[in-house]
This record gives sequence, structure tokens and C-alpha cells, in this order.
Amino acid sequence: MPHHDVLVIGAGLAGQRAALSAAEQGANVGIISKVHPVRSHSNAAQGGINAALDPEDSWESHAFDTVKGSDYLGDQDAIEIMCREAPDELLELEHLGVTFHRDETGHLGKRAFGGASAARTYYVADITGQAILHVLYEQLMKHDVVHRYEEWFTTALVQDEEGKVSGAVTRNIRDGSMELFAAKSVILATGGNGQVFNPTTNALVCTGDAIAMAYRIGAPLMDMEMIQYHPTTLAGLGLLITEGARGEGAHLYNADGERFMEKYAPNKMELASRDVVSRAEQTEINEGRGFPDGTVALDITVVPRKRIHEALREILNVGRDFAGVDITKEPIHIKPGNHYAMGGVKSDTDGLTSIPGLYAVGECACVSVHGGNRLGANSLLDTLIFGRRAGAHAGKRSKGSPMPQPSRASLDDEEARIRAIFDRERSGRRVSEIKAELGATMDEKCSVYRDEEGLREALEVVTRLRQEAKVATVDDRGTIFNQDLLGALELQFMIDNAETILVSAIERKESRGAQYRTDFPDRNDDDWLKHITVQPNGDGEAPEIEYSEVTMTQWEPEERTY
Ligand code: FUM
Repeated sequence: MPHHDVLVIGAGLAGQRAALSAAEQGANVGIISKVHPVRSHSNAAQGGINAALDPEDSWESHAFDTVKGSDYLGDQDAIEIMCREAPDELLELEHLGVTFHRDETGHLGKRAFGGASAARTYYVADITGQAILHVLYEQLMKHDVVHRYEEWFTTALVQDEEGKVSGAVTRNIRDGSMELFAAKSVILATGGNGQVFNPTTNALVCTGDAIAMAYRIGAPLMDMEMIQYHPTTLAGLGLLITEGARGEGAHLYNADGERFMEKYAPNKMELASRDVVSRAEQTEINEGRGFPDGTVALDITVVPRKRIHEALREILNVGRDFAGVDITKEPIHIKPGNHYAMGGVKSDTDGLTSIPGLYAVGECACVSVHGGNRLGANSLLDTLIFGRRAGAHAGKRSKGSPMPQPSRASLDDEEARIRAIFDRERSGRRVSEIKAELGATMDEKCSVYRDEEGLREALEVVTRLRQEAKVATVDDRGTIFNQDLLGALELQFMIDNAETILVSAIERKESRGAQYRTDFPDRNDDDWLKHITVQPNGDGEAPEIEYSEVTMTQWEPEERTY
């Protein structure tokens, strides 16, 4: 049985940072990923990473912007840690070899991002996530105490008799063999759940696996209703057009040629926080001032051509290849699209969840530093800061503690579960059909604007899809790269995610951050300045709901204007 002091599940930025940091503590580390690590979704992070490095700026200002951006739902102790530690983390990345942009004076160049009171986003053109991911992967390869399990799919977490996590069951995607891993600590880092929605900016791998696996063993999920719609995505496809474009000066127009952000955020205009800009766009579209394709226009032609080629070259390609638009010459049509889950597995500032031995970091976790709405370029930061902290904590904790011996019964159960999928009649709906209905329903009923009726309708659909997913047809019964089987397992993870998102969105009877309830249009601090957590209810019925306090340190809630 493979065994490791620290087992990291997921090898994007959060997972790789956690693995490195645990290895630096002398721990023997295993890192499992269902894709090759440099194909993780962190690759898609375009615009940059925030840090108050400039002497004129301060971590307190970064923290306040983050608190305000979160619509006061973020936990201020965690936000303070993230913003205070950001400058050192950024410099360390630079020293490891990340080629951050430098300005004409040779200093690190920065760009403005939404909701920030100072330009503090550091970047590598518009491929920042990819640049960091490759550098961390080089570091991982250097460490011979880090064992990489690339293209292994984790199906379930394993607990001992006292409830402590003692390992995980996985399937080697290359040959279909199943394996039981033993671990003193398990760090979940599988990213978000964007694939629950369609379209989304998220990669196909973002199916909420860790969120569902943790939930299934009783870990509370927090702020699940807070789903971010990014203001600039391509209609239909969901491809991201980075906020960096607006940071470089691009404007938004409606079909009447009005720069409509003047009405919604007269001070910050296009650089208001994402929830505000997405709502403004959706209002223009809903009230008939959008284009016939259900979009508004992003005009990047105001950015000098040389600068586009230097700093926005990825979206130059995306515009040309996927929309047939040369962004240096004409506006590109965009709309709000699913982008990020602010919620996830409730964890503390060392990544610890309520299940002993289990940590969660990055987008699958909820610390909560993003509260109701994440600021652009704070997610790379979140992955690195809390990935490092969790890795260090788990690495230290493993010293001197005995290696658990997880029961082989967990492996037998998972093998039986997979055999049962192969044994299904071929009469059910296809996984892809069920997934398409799920994504369309969530996008229609649980996006920028929501109301109770629509959310309840969506929940009914999800409840039906859960039953259909149990008998969905899987054609491929083979062992080598069986994506059909993985799709069936992922679909069940996605349905758990969808149900908890909807139940939480129905529960929160107010509008805050990314949750705008047309039936409760105001923020209501008296009743709802609190986190919603959900847990499985023992009898398999609807999730059980609880509340927890928002941690306040120095910033009292205020009216939020930009
Ligand atoms: O727009 C962007 O470049 C996305 C960045 C982020 O989500 O942090």
C-alpha cells in the first residue's frame, strides 16, 4: 500500500504549493492529480496576483479592499493573513523564477484590477497562472521526497474508526487499477466546481470532486451560494477575457453606445468589483440595451496596440480564434459567465477542516477570504498563501506520528461501486446529457439574478438528475483512460455540489455579493451577516443547515459603493 506523511489531492497551484511546503518540513509527500499537473485549471488564471508591494501601498489597504469586495462576508482574520503575507510570497515566486512583467525602469510592473484602491496586480502578460504553475512544477520535480501520481483519479476519502482521515482510494487512469493510499494527513486541493454550470470559464476537470468527497464524510461546506459570474466571458463558450483588459483601460458599452458603468459605479467604472459589473451588464441586457446575441461590448481598441501585444496576447488569440474578432481593431461581445466558487470546504487559516487529518486549500476550500465576492487576482494569492500554510502545518504534524493502516474494506467498497456502474443496463440517459441539463439549469436559475421560485425549480431538477445519474449509461467498460467512467463519477460529485449551492442560495434571504435575490434585493446585516454551512443529514435527505459568525477584526460593515 503506498503511504505518505502528507497526501495532496490536486496538483494545481494550491496543491503544488502545499506539497512543496510539506516537503520543506521533511515530510514524505504524495501528490495525486487526475490530469498532468501543468494541465491543471490554475493554467487558465490570466490577469495576475495581488500584493501590496509598493511602498505607497499597504497590506491594510489590500485587506480593506478585500473585505469590502467580499460584501463584508469574508473573515477578516484570514484576509489579514493573506494580505500581510502576500508581498513575501510574490517575491519568493520571483526568486524561484516566475518571469513577472518588469516596467521600463526594471521594476516589477503592476496593473489595476477591479475593486482595488491601488494598482497592485503583478502579472506575466495574461498567462500568470500558467507561468507560476510551470515554475512550481519544476520545484516539485527537484524534490525526491515528493512522489507524483499523475493521471490518478481519487474516488473517496478513507477514515479510521475514530473518524480521522487515514487515506484515500484512487484509480490509475492509465490502466484502471485501484489503489488504497495511507496518509497521516490529506490535503484537498482539487479546485472549484465551475462545470456544474454551463457555460463556464472553468476547465473540464473542475467538477467539485474534493468538495463532494469531504461533504460525503461529514465536513461542513460554507458560503456555497456564493458563485462568481465574471463580467467578461465569450457568450456560449464561456472563455475568459481577462479583467486585465479593463485594468489596461478597456471600456464597456451597451448596444446604444453608452458607457453604462457611469450609472452603476461612477467612481470605479469598469473597475468596480466583479459582482457589481456583472449585475450592471446583466441589467443592460435584460432591459433591452444589449446586442441581439445577449451581450454587451468590451472595447479594447482604446489600449495601445503595442501594449495589447505585450500584455494581453492570450486574449488577442482567444478573440481571433473563438470570436473572429481582432481586439486591436474592434470591440468584442462579452457577457457575465460562471467563473469561481467563493464557497467550499470550511477550513481554518492553516487549511484544517473539522475532520481530523483533513485539510482543504485553494478553490475547493472556504477559509473564507472571499466572502460574497472575490476580487480579481486574489485567487492565485489564496492558493499560494493557504497552500503553503497547510503544507507546513501538515508536514510538522506528521513528525513522530504513526502511519495509519486504512482498512482494505474502503478499497473493496469503491471497487464494488465501479463494478456496479459497469454492470448497469445501457438504458439510462448518457452522462453528457445529464451534465448538459445540470449546467443549463444552474446557469438559468442560479446565476447573476436569482429568486426563490427559480432556485426551487432548479433544486427539483437536480433531485431528478441525481436519480438519473445513478443509472446513467456508461458504454466504455475498459480499463485504459476510461473517461466515460470518470464522467459518471464526476457527475455524482457535481450533483452534490449543485444541491448544496441551491440549498444555501434558497436559505440566504437577502442580496449580498454574488448572490442577488430579486425577491430580497437588499443586504440585511441584522439577519444575514453570517456564514451558511451545510452538512449531509444522516438520513440522506436535504442537507442540514447551520450558521457561523463572520470574524470581524477592524472593519465594520458599511454601504458598498464604487
Ligand atoms: O480576469 C482574470 O484575469 C481572472 C482573474 C481571476 O479570476 O483572479
